[in-house]
Amino acid sequence: MAKIGRFITFEGGEGTGKSTQAKRLAAALEARKISCLVTREPGGSPGAEEIRSLVLKGDPARWNPLTEALLFYAARADHTERKIKPALADGKWVICDRYSDSSYAYQGGGRGLARETVRRIEAIAINDFKPELTLILDLPVEIGLKRSIARQGNIETRFEEMDVAFHERMRKTFLDIARRHPDRCVVIDAGQDIDAVADAVWHTVKTRFRLK
Ligand code: TYD
Repeated sequence: MAKIGRFITFEGGEGTGKSTQAKRLAAALEARKISCLVTREPGGSPGAEEIRSLVLKGDPARWNPLTEALLFYAARADHTERKIKPALADGKWVICDRYSDSSYAYQGGGRGLARETVRRIEAIAINDFKPELTLILDLPVEIGLKRSIARQGNIETRFEEMDVAFHERMRKTFLDIARRHPDRCVVIDAGQDIDAVADAVWHTVKTRFRLK
């Protein structure tokens, strides 16, 4: 039987450097002849990219928390079935910039949707499909927001515009998730320089998957 790939996610707040680290990890794996797919949420498949602009643009109050969670999971269901699972079945390692933990942290912790509600939507939308390893890049909220607001020309700012208390609740939820799922999650200090974060990520992945 063909070898099934591994599924790794990056999570964390605004401006924590997830996408840079996802690319760095893929390059390190590719250098060891491990073929990777780097993808992101919301989005990653054509249908999910269309939903992306609905959730990331416009007024912060545009959606109520339940509708917002349903939209994120509608995008995730499409992305999972059409892109992530086929790549894994093809033996690729899939590295995803945000996945289901972001819905617990943003729609749950941040926007106040009950965890049980998110869990029930997750069960229906992706049948509780989970990454094998989740790297949570952690950074004080003010530093992360400053970094991400400095990005030029970004119009996908619905969540960045939410207040600092929202972002603090979101950060706390990610740390709670890490405590509740120590087998799957590793918290990495994203306040270090980019190379030090990449080293910490690589050390974690190498150990977890027993790579040489
Ligand atoms: P993006 O521009 O990709 O930012 P980042 O670099 O911070 O990932 O925007 C994604 C935004 O969507 C981010 O603010 C977090 C939010 N989000 C949710 O609220 N719920 C989710 O399930 C996901 C995947 C993202």
